[in-house]
Amino acid sequence: MIDEIEKIIISENELKEKVVELGSTISSDYDGLNPVFITVLRGSIIFLCDLIREVKIPISVDFLSVSSYSGQSHTGVVRILKDLDENIENKHVILVEDIIDTGLTLNYIVGMLEERKPASIKVCALLDKKVRRIIDIPIDYKGFEIPDEFVVGYGMDYNQLYRNLPYIGVLKKEYLD
Ligand code: IMP
Ligand code: MG
Repeated sequence: MIDEIEKIIISENELKEKVVELGSTISSDYDGLNPVFITVLRGSIIFLCDLIREVKIPISVDFLSVSSYSGQSHTGVVRILKDLDENIENKHVILVEDIIDTGLTLNYIVGMLEERKPASIKVCALLDKKVRRIIDIPIDYKGFEIPDEFVVGYGMDYNQLYRNLPYIGVLKKEYLD
């Protein structure tokens, strides 16, 4: 564990087990449907890469980049920084997210994607910070529910650092500004 981390809340092994389980469920639910995994940059990339290698059916991936956070506080504004490369009309979409906090980002993205008339759209989120929810959106495939703490690692950052940690942890107070 690196010095900046106060505690690990989800270990590398727990992440691996959960991802295998999610991949296997998605593989059977989407058999024959060639779903597209739409991933919200940058926090979800590690989860995506591990998840799709546990999915045993043909799939495609596409990326979306939005900005909703600066440091630790929510700005309330969701901006599209990079749109999808492919058309999703009549496609089965699985939206992959690292963490659902207030739900504002997810709500905005789902609304925007629905306008493009996909055949279906479901949400797969690694972490659910349920107590912080402002807009209630169903999470179809969920990894873990976590308490109201700011977490880093496994793709998630604090001011762009710590994405490379193989586990999910909480930073020591002196590293949060
Ligand atoms: P929401 O709109 O409040 O649900 O925010 C969702 C996005 O905020 C997530 O996709 C993350 O990118 C980021 N986020 C929320 N909570 C955390 C956290 O504890 N650590 C790192 N990023 C977070
Ligand atoms: Mg995110």
